[in-house]
Amino acid sequence: MRNTEPLLKISGVSRRFGGLMALRDLDFSVHRGEIVGLIGPNGAGKTTAFNVVTGTIPPSSGEVSYNGQRISGLPPSRVVVAGLARTFQATSTYPGETTASNIYRGMLPRIKESMVGPVTGRHHRDLPIGQVQDEIDRILEITDLKRWAHAEAGSLPYGLQKKLGIAVALATKPTMLLLDEPAAGLNHEECNELARLLRRLRDDHGLTLLLVEHHMALVMELCQRIVVLVQGQKIAEGTPEEIRNHPAVIEAYLGAPD
Ligand SMILES: Nc1ncnc2c1ncn2[C@@H]1O[C@H](COP(=O)(O)OP(=O)(O)OP(=O)(O)O)[C@@H](O)[C@H]1O
Ligand SMILES: [Mg+2]
Repeated sequence: MRNTEPLLKISGVSRRFGGLMALRDLDFSVHRGEIVGLIGPNGAGKTTAFNVVTGTIPPSSGEVSYNGQRISGLPPSRVVVAGLARTFQATSTYPGETTASNIYRGMLPRIKESMVGPVTGRHHRDLPIGQVQDEIDRILEITDLKRWAHAEAGSLPYGLQKKLGIAVALATKPTMLLLDEPAAGLNHEECNELARLLRRLRDDHGLTLLLVEHHMALVMELCQRIVVLVQGQKIAEGTPEEIRNHPAVIEAYLGAPD
């Protein structure tokens, strides 16, 4: 049955940087409609896992599949076309351009008439140029950035810049979104707003989410399942309740001063 198959499957993935094993035989899956947390101390390999999944770097060994198809080895532009988008740990927008223009950039590979994006993915293009403005408005609406549409991205408060990173990822029309520390640097209110946005993306827009985050309260609140990495290895996987009470996690991670 197709729907019981995981949407994202990471099988035996290792990644070596010289003498360092940043990921060691990593296995985990994400199912459609889930919000899964990927947590672990600094340097555990979380961003490396995102880089491997999204094609920024190849795995040294192992395989990643998405929607039943092998994606490891594909360049990032093809992974995006397959429906997987990500946000970055640092804000990654064009600061001198407006909010709307940044969203437009994320949309370019979807536009039928555009030359941006992989040639081989052209038949996937769903957006005629005449519908681009409506689509930009739709993304502004979802992310509640409408009143900032014509503001320069670099002039936005930090929390809104992070949100714009999500908007740019959404502009690619993903089925799954990988978020690398979306709450980092946000204040309490911005963090609550982020939680509401992520929940809406799942509940109202059908997105599947993989969330890397150090903000434990947010992870525990949003995620159905959590995978814990320490020094490139998965040491635990389970519900928030199971992870909260897992002895190895308490020792290796939650118990450590941060
Ligand atoms: N391109 C690279 N070249 C060499 N070493 C790297 C590279 N990328 C990551 N590393 C190393 O791999 C390990 C894992 O790094 P990674 O950035 O994946 O950790 P992380 O879990 O995202 O940490 P943080 O919570 O601080 O963001 C670290 O020791 C890091 O220094
Ligand atoms: Mg990281």
